[in-house]
Amino acid sequence: MNIKFPNDFLFGIGSSSYQIEGAHDKDGKGESIWDRYTETHKELIVDGSDGKDACKSYEFYEDDVQALKDLQVQFYRFSISWCRICPDGDSAKLNQSGIAYYNNLINLLIDSGIEPMVTIYHWDLPQKLQDLGGWTNPKMADFFEDYARVIFTLYGDRVKWWFTINEPHLHSVFSYGQCLRDKLPVHAPDVRFLGISEYLAGHVMLLSHARAYRLYQKEFYSKQRGKVGIVLDAFNFIPASNKIEDINAAKRTRTFEVEWLLHPIFSSTGDYPPLMKKIINEKSLAEGRTRSRLPELTADEIELIKGSSDFLGINHYTTYLAADEDVGDKPSFYNDAGFNATPNPNSFSPSPDWIKMEPEGFLDLLNWIKNTYNNPPVFITENGCGDVQEYDDKDKIYYHKTYLQVILKAINEDGCKIIGYSAWSLLDSFEWSSGYTEKFGFYRIDFTDPKRKRTPKRSASYYRNVIKTRSIDFKFPD
Ligand code: BGC
Repeated sequence: MNIKFPNDFLFGIGSSSYQIEGAHDKDGKGESIWDRYTETHKELIVDGSDGKDACKSYEFYEDDVQALKDLQVQFYRFSISWCRICPDGDSAKLNQSGIAYYNNLINLLIDSGIEPMVTIYHWDLPQKLQDLGGWTNPKMADFFEDYARVIFTLYGDRVKWWFTINEPHLHSVFSYGQCLRDKLPVHAPDVRFLGISEYLAGHVMLLSHARAYRLYQKEFYSKQRGKVGIVLDAFNFIPASNKIEDINAAKRTRTFEVEWLLHPIFSSTGDYPPLMKKIINEKSLAEGRTRSRLPELTADEIELIKGSSDFLGINHYTTYLAADEDVGDKPSFYNDAGFNATPNPNSFSPSPDWIKMEPEGFLDLLNWIKNTYNNPPVFITENGCGDVQEYDDKDKIYYHKTYLQVILKAINEDGCKIIGYSAWSLLDSFEWSSGYTEKFGFYRIDFTDPKRKRTPKRSASYYRNVIKTRSIDFKFPD
């Protein structure tokens, strides 16, 4: 097998604003839903922590760029905090200090030979917009389009890769529903109108994404010539047994978990997946409703959304076993989908325990995307695992090596169009409801140090070697 990555394949690494920036109320930044949630729901964060200070990247972004230079990455995927730019979420009121912060970061990246790639929204919604209903408010599409216009205008002369919304499916289900496992909300803002709010939030995010995409094409593309795409969380789901029920459950799980928001953009017909529409509609009518709990897309909306992404960004961490099961509160996203998905108990888990090493599952997913959606350009926008080994994070190296190996196979042998890889993540950061207990970073942060010293782990030298040689060193670490 050809063990080299193609010359134009892009290697980089990622982060997100709330997870690393800190400075939660500095220099005019507004309150985000995560500021509020960590303040009012400490009991729902594993270690009771928050992102008030996090890695202090707002203050020490130069250290981040130094780490990126040491890694020799080609790009850095970071997100912009909406309420640092528009404190209330209102694009008529801009915060100059916030604008300057991202200008400085972008300029320093460019001066360092690193391409800035920007996620416009990675879950830290301005609290004021949440007070208006957040993503369940259809008006959000206007707010998001206006915010995107501000961002394209400010930074589009230098930023040529845009990711609109990070993981709208997970954000909808975890923030506007609940976690299947323990029935708790997992993410801010904790709106639980089960079976309704999850779908509404996903629907509005999908429309908001499409509006931002069309806006860029109409008002910015001719001058800026950038690429705009969505980032979907895409685990793979394989049947837990040979039973036909489980085989069908795995298909259904993939439909609900991945295709719900992929199909409207990347299929030739557009719209939500027919299977999902059918299931939710039938259940809704049986519940005595007059219409489906899954909002309908109009013919115009279907057209607006179809094709609204220059590439498919996917965040992939693992593969789960899916079994047919009547689960979850009724109605709810999980009850509609009717599956139970669990990590394979027989596979190696580097850390945390929701991640199992299933590289073949990733290969299968990549080929499924290629075959089902006409081989779109795929950008792997997140992939990685945590560690418990501090500096000598061998398991993390093993994870990345094995996953990169199947990506190479997908490109070179199977003909999948994969254009880039963004490892997750640059720094140990605030891992949402897991607080600081999960350590995905290639750089360790000393959270007791006021300067938050960044120290490379062994994975950093491994990744640098991959980027330098554009191939995988199978002997490393020996
Ligand atoms: C999110 C990241 C998060 C990672 C690991 C992804 O779903 O986009 O923000 O840190 O998972 O939990």
